[in-house]
Amino acid sequence: MDKTFKLNNGVLIPSVGFGTWQTPDGETAIKAVKCAIADGYRHIDAAAVYANEKSVGEGIRQSGIRREDLFVTSKVWNTERGYDSTLHAFDKTCGDLGLEYLDLYLIHWPAVAKQFDNWREINADTWRAMEHLYKEGRIKAIGVSNFLPHHLEAIAADAEIPVMVNQIEFHPGFMQKDCVEYCNAKDILVEAWSPLGTGRMLTNETLKAIAAKYGKSVAQLCIRWAMQHGVLPLPKSVTPERIRENLDVFGFEISDADMQTIDRMEYCGGSGLAPDEIDF
Ligand code: A2P
Repeated sequence: MDKTFKLNNGVLIPSVGFGTWQTPDGETAIKAVKCAIADGYRHIDAAAVYANEKSVGEGIRQSGIRREDLFVTSKVWNTERGYDSTLHAFDKTCGDLGLEYLDLYLIHWPAVAKQFDNWREINADTWRAMEHLYKEGRIKAIGVSNFLPHHLEAIAADAEIPVMVNQIEFHPGFMQKDCVEYCNAKDILVEAWSPLGTGRMLTNETLKAIAAKYGKSVAQLCIRWAMQHGVLPLPKSVTPERIRENLDVFGFEISDADMQTIDRMEYCGGSGLAPDEIDF
């Protein structure tokens, strides 16, 4: 398993990212990010709506890492959709993170039909702003999050630059197969938010039994399982031992039979945020 995945524009992206959703702002976020970078993470997944980007940026600065050695993602929130607002949101996020450029910028959620008659147009306008920033060199790669195939189809119809990443909820018992297959066919890298099911998968008996066979934790099993599917996991933790543990996933391989057992696990539902037509 390589330490990076390659995006469809040739950019390399470290194959495990550090999640910051639900990480409390302030010292907790600063310490978590510093700890992750000290432990070897080179990919931080942030978002304006997580309301902790200033602290994430402070953690990056305090880590002393060189900017070019780190891959940083952020996302434009739903209230900022549209061309001008997206450009503005990008500047605000860069200011909060204290960065001149981002490695990856995502549309956080699609505008959906349930909420907007002109959902296609809204997403297309937001995407045009992403393309603009990409062409200006202020973002190395652009993508979306929580988009279903029909949202991706609509973007593709108007886009000049194709979507490079789709970040969706993905963990055992919640594989969003149709969406992953669609993305694979279009060479869109899938990233997994909540690869541990926001912690809910950690007590699952099937996963515990398989993890024990490899002498690994359930968290490590879930993270590795995503990677072996070609999906980039973004585990979140604020606990130093767990942060370290979650990156220690390169020294073992889940067998085909065990991959299939995990794939066949009963549908456990998602967080309730995904997959469809959420209107916030
Ligand atoms: P904490 O941040 O308190 O360490 P997900 O990445 O799926 O959203 O899951 C995040 C949740 O899982 C958090 O509650 C986090 O707790 C917990 N978690 C993350 N890594 C581990 C681990 N290796 N072992 C146990 N719990 C973990």
